[in-house]
Amino acid sequence: MASHSKSRPLAAGKSGALTGRVRVPGDKSISHRSLMLGALALGETVISGLLEAEDVMNTASAMRALGASVVKGDDGLWRVKGLGVGGLLEPTGVIDFGNAGTGVRLTMGLVASQPIAVTFTGDASLVKRPMGRVLDPLAEMGVEFIARSGGRLPLTMRGARTPLPVTYRVPMPSAQVKSAVLLAGLGTPGVTTVVEPIFTRDHTERMLKGFGAHIEIDTDKDGVRTIRLEGRPELKAQAIDVPSDPSSAAFPIVAASIVPGSDVTVEGVLMNPARIGLIETLLEMGANIEIVGERETGGEKLADLRVRHAELKGVNVPAERAPSMIDEYPILAVAAAVAAGETRMNGLEEMRVKESDRLAAVAAGLKANGVDCTEGKDWLTVRGGFVPGGGTVATHLDHRIAMSFLILGFVANSAVTVDDAAMIATSFPTFESLMTGLGAGFTEVED
Ligand code: S3P
Repeated sequence: MASHSKSRPLAAGKSGALTGRVRVPGDKSISHRSLMLGALALGETVISGLLEAEDVMNTASAMRALGASVVKGDDGLWRVKGLGVGGLLEPTGVIDFGNAGTGVRLTMGLVASQPIAVTFTGDASLVKRPMGRVLDPLAEMGVEFIARSGGRLPLTMRGARTPLPVTYRVPMPSAQVKSAVLLAGLGTPGVTTVVEPIFTRDHTERMLKGFGAHIEIDTDKDGVRTIRLEGRPELKAQAIDVPSDPSSAAFPIVAASIVPGSDVTVEGVLMNPARIGLIETLLEMGANIEIVGERETGGEKLADLRVRHAELKGVNVPAERAPSMIDEYPILAVAAAVAAGETRMNGLEEMRVKESDRLAAVAAGLKANGVDCTEGKDWLTVRGGFVPGGGTVATHLDHRIAMSFLILGFVANSAVTVDDAAMIATSFPTFESLMTGLGAGFTEVED
């Protein structure tokens, strides 16, 4: 089980200028999908730059439990020997995804179109998160399940013996829901159609195409996407080079923007248009971010980002931008706490169902450190300019809350403490060493 039995409080105080060149670890979304599609492909998928963090390692274990071979070689490359579409085996034990929402929801999609029974569970955060959003469309395709009330984990799913292709309109902006239906569509005869009114990260579509699936996407004049996937393709093993995660790059980018004198370059960051809302917002706030060396790998754009300190000002962040920066609002709130004037963030309802209720956790953390903010049902207003600090932040098993508030400490008058830094290992195990290498400091706190 990947849950953490012991919490590790950590503090960060005022930092001198941050300087240097860094590379953050591989993209979490692409890492999960590389292992999953590798498990369904024929042949050996070879992955470089895989994110070696707990969430992704739980997906690696899950793919092994479902019969695929997943190994890391001495050369640092990960190799997945797949079973072919429809070839997953029934696991003998419970599959525990720890903290990983993407891991569990997408794997439910993989299992849905095969007649195998699988029991899923997770840590104290994951068992609180809604699974109904994935179970509803999968039930239409013929899946049976027994779950805790509200569709919570632990749950046991039996995939469909004769899965039915559906047309499913995703009711909330969620790449996980879209992806679960598409992955279920792989093992389903006929065409599975997903209608996506609001564009979310499209790694599943891009990677399915890369592995040889027949997938067509039409976008109408209102931006509504219709994705049609032909079932039962033969997926072919691929060589995948995972780009750096923009959601992890967000931390050194904001830190360099707010700590006076900083000059940091973050190399090889994934610049997929569905992932760069934070960069757009920081530029509107007056950030000094130079996008250099734009290039492409495996159908995705990458760039190096040179970030120098700048005086930021508050802005209004439109609701339409939320899907392209949904994981970045906690760290944006830190930038907003430093920026002059008011920052208003809109369209935040999905933040409430992340690893924690992130909207509530961010507002509480800011208030604990003397930053003036107002939390609405789906919005947050931060009045920035001065960060007294001195508070302790409840992280609620949420890695991004922990990292964001440690960075708030870099610009606070008194140090900021987070109650548990252990969860950072779920997505960005090298966070502390990387930030320390740039000149930041952290202090262990007695429990
Ligand atoms: C992810 C989708 C997003 C995001 C999560 C990763 C993915 O979740 O918050 O960190 O890889 O598909 P939702 O689909 O719930 O918005």
